[in-house]
This record gives sequence, C-alpha cells and structure tokens, in this order.
Amino acid sequence: MTSTLIIEGLRVEVAGKEVLRGFDLLMRTGEVHVIMGPNGSGKSTLAHALTGHPGYKVLGGSVRIDDVELLTMSPSERARHGLLLAMQQPLEVAGVRPIDLLIAAGVDPTNLRQRMRDEAERVELRPEILDRFVNVDLSGGERKRAEMVQFGMLRPKFAVLDEIDSGLDVDALGAVARRLSLASNEWECGILVITHFKRLLQELTPTMIHVLSEGRVVATGGPELSEILERDGYEPFRVASA
Ligand SMILES: Nc1ncnc2c1ncn2[C@@H]1O[C@H](COP(=O)(O)OP(=O)(O)OP(=O)(O)O)[C@@H](O)[C@H]1O
Ligand SMILES: [Mg+2]
Repeated sequence: MTSTLIIEGLRVEVAGKEVLRGFDLLMRTGEVHVIMGPNGSGKSTLAHALTGHPGYKVLGGSVRIDDVELLTMSPSERARHGLLLAMQQPLEVAGVRPIDLLIAAGVDPTNLRQRMRDEAERVELRPEILDRFVNVDLSGGERKRAEMVQFGMLRPKFAVLDEIDSGLDVDALGAVARRLSLASNEWECGILVITHFKRLLQELTPTMIHVLSEGRVVATGGPELSEILERDGYEPFRVASA
C-alpha cells in the first residue's frame, strides 16, 4: 500500500533564528527525492526537526504520514510510524551496540546477527564493526555504512538521509546508492536524500530534486536539475528566491 509523507509550511527556529521558513514537500513510498542547497540553507535543520531534536524549535507547519501528525510525537514514536533519519554527523553511543538498537526498535530477532552481516556486506562494511559500540572508534565512512545497516534492518516507510555520501570512498558510494535504489523496490521505501553532489544520483535515479535556499524550496525539477546546479552553482536560484 502506498503511503504519503507531507511536509507543509514547516518553520523551525535554531538558536533564536528562523532557519526553515515555510518548507513544503510531498512524496510517496517508492519515490526518491533529493534536497540540494548551499551550506547553511537549512537542510540538516530539516532532518533534525523531523527527528524531533529538542534544540530545533518548530514554530509552525505540519509533518504527516498518511494524515497522522508526527510533530507532536516523541522521536521513538516517529520511528514506529515509519520515519528513519540518518544524520549528517552520526552520534557515538557508548555502551550500546547496533544490535541493541534494533532489538529496542522491535526488529524480528530471528537470525538477527546473520541478517545484519548480510546488510553490512551490501555496503562493504567489515562485519566486526557491528560488534563495536554505536559509532565509537569508527571512521567517517564506516559510520555512514553502519547507518545503512540500520536502515536495511529497520526497513522504514520513509528514510531521510543527510549527506549519507559524505566521507564515503568511491566504491562505498556506489554500494550505498545501489542499496538505496534496491530498497525503493524491495519494500517501496520512500527515500529523501540530502546531498551536495550528483555522484550519488548516478545509481539512484531521483523522482524529483528540490533546491533549498534560505529555508525554502526555490526550485523543483527532475534529474537534470543536479546537472544545472553542478554547472551554474546556486547563484541563479538565489536570484529566483529574492
Ligand atoms: N545547533 C545549532 N546551533 C546554532 N546554530 C545552528 C545550529 N544548527 C544549525 N544552525 C545554523 O542554522 C543554519 C542552517 O544550518 P544547517 O545545518 O541546517 O545547514 P545545511 O543546509 O545542512 O548546511 P551544510 O550544507 O553545511 O550541511 C546555519 O546558519 C547554522 O549555523
Ligand atoms: Mg547539513
């Protein structure tokens, strides 16, 4: 069954400043949406607000999956409703192993270790890494791959992945793009990736690309938009938003 994620008029304040100023997005399961935009335009603020991070104050708007409002829910309730966030800078959680997070989230425990190893193999992550505490002593690229293992195990309805490509070597980048692409077929995952580079999109064909500038979507288009951005930068879009 198709589900819909609707973000409407989302306004978010960070450290006394309104960073998201009326953000709108509509996507369905099985689609791949991309958010691109200059540094500081509010992309990670969107990801933090969607998780329910307490430092990001929602001033207005709505975030719904199939007409159920998420903004009033706790972060774990949002996850139970099918929303997964992979942060730009994954946090270290000393004393907690990836498997503990999965058990706490209610993932089917049958053959759990083996299924985790299979997911690790898909993104070329050494399986020993899964026995360490979450993100502790992991390289930048290993953290991103470990996030992908959680993604594959949790099978969210919608996943928001903030710069999942940053810090990945070129082989891992391809593996992650292929894993995401497969997920959009395997369980019709709705994928929202935040990225600066079109490289990730070579093996993950976007349904739509949205350009964020100063807290609002200023342009929406097909895959060709990433080519235009790479060629011309964000300057033409800044003019469009003025
Ligand atoms: N926790 C915070 N405390 C203070 N300011 C913040 C915080 N988080 C974000 N900001 C500010 O909000 C603005 C938007 O930041 P955000 O991280 O959303 O940008 P971004 O679009 O993700 O940029 P990048 O491409 O560099 O990742 C920036 O000016 C940033 O300095
Ligand atoms: Mg960011």
